[in-house]
Amino acid sequence: MARDGAQYVCQSCGAVQTRWGGQCPACGAWNTLVEEITSRPPGALKPASAARKSRLAFEGLDTQTPSPPRLVTGLGEWDRVCGGGVAPGSAILVGGDPGVGKSTLLLQVAASAARAGARCAYISGEEAVEQVRARAQRMGLADAPLKLAAETSLRTILEGLKAEPFDFAVIDSIQTLWSDAHEAGPGSVTQVRAAAGELTRLAKSRGVSIVLVGHVTKDGAIAGPRVIEHMVDAVFAFEGERGYPFRILRGAKNRFGATDEIGVFEMGDAGLAEVKNPSALFLNTSGERAAGAAVFAGLEGSRPVLVEIQALVAPSAYGNPRRAVVGWDSGRLAMILAVLEARCGLSFGDRDVYLNVAGGLRITEPAADLAAAAALASSAFDQALPQDCVVFGEISLSGEVRPVSRIDARLKEAAKLGFRRALAPQTEVQTPGLKVTSASRLVDAIQRIEHADWP
Ligand code: TYD
Ligand code: MG
Repeated sequence: MARDGAQYVCQSCGAVQTRWGGQCPACGAWNTLVEEITSRPPGALKPASAARKSRLAFEGLDTQTPSPPRLVTGLGEWDRVCGGGVAPGSAILVGGDPGVGKSTLLLQVAASAARAGARCAYISGEEAVEQVRARAQRMGLADAPLKLAAETSLRTILEGLKAEPFDFAVIDSIQTLWSDAHEAGPGSVTQVRAAAGELTRLAKSRGVSIVLVGHVTKDGAIAGPRVIEHMVDAVFAFEGERGYPFRILRGAKNRFGATDEIGVFEMGDAGLAEVKNPSALFLNTSGERAAGAAVFAGLEGSRPVLVEIQALVAPSAYGNPRRAVVGWDSGRLAMILAVLEARCGLSFGDRDVYLNVAGGLRITEPAADLAAAAALASSAFDQALPQDCVVFGEISLSGEVRPVSRIDARLKEAAKLGFRRALAPQTEVQTPGLKVTSASRLVDAIQRIEHADWP
């Protein structure tokens, strides 16, 4: 029999089991079940009789309650991902790999909000106040009226946030907090859930916006922030490709805004710099564009972003040809290769295929299909695309090029950055200074590339 109050919690998915096992029956992860004791101290539960009887009050859809103004921090990339500033009383989870720059980002956000007049706190459970201060000084934030604290006790943090009226508080990180109401260790699912629950309640009841920082690890050694995603109002992922200075803040859930917005930053000596024009960043503008490169006119949220897609098709040295892809979906690459083989007569069976999205960006839009196909064909034929050409369009299994959303925004961005042509789906949209070569079938587009036939 399990000990009184003992349960086994999967540190990956948060499922609770009554007995230990090597594999979590809920999510299938191995070695993630950890014993956690969850006995509540006496008196923690209110007796049912103490609960006040209240009546459910209904309201109409047309009831007007003015929503309180958003907290605009002044860090534009952050504010946009939030949906136009931080909603008051909201709880936001920012997750990311250790070392990607979460602490740096939130210190900047908090300092920026403090400069804008908000009452802000930055509570670190990982660094001493001295360290945070030194970092802030190096980043040129020393003058911001930001209140710092180093604390890991949930009770002390809650009391501190109740004692003073704050508008905005950062808790870095949720995995370092511990609550004395639970015996499980810091970073366990029980503790992380308890801390997130209490802090989210505080945010709602006091109208203070709270950002929880959460480390994400693949091995499940510490509780994944996934187990608290449902509790918070917004979940943002902070991502970066190793070896690149670019960092992308991506909305995964947002009760107060769109989730397809991204914020782009560049990590430097003085912290994160906002990148207002990501197109310039993801484009390789130096030198000639070689065979195998295509400029994709994409959309990231509300913003058009131009990015170079690079392909290399080379004879395979071994029986099993390699397919490697960075920044794009490998399943999508397999599909495009199959369509190129079946509908356009290209053959990749004995060739290695590499596809890379420049700058460390990750593309999820189907509109990139045609650009990827163009890059692959360009490399296969060793025939460069025109320097001044952008490409976009979705490809169907039957080899058609399908229209995509917001063609005008894509073309305008391309024209603004000096591009003069576009290889695109059939469209009526015109942009001054830019010639659109429409292709309704993939094979037509591929033939243009093969014969360098550009009007
Ligand atoms: P950090 O914010 O501590 O990451 P996280 O909180 O996600 O674990 O940032 C870690 C990295 O960022 C560290 O390797 C150093 C780098 N960095 C800079 O390059 N420039 C800077 O100004 C700062 C503050 C950090
Ligand atoms: Mg950190």
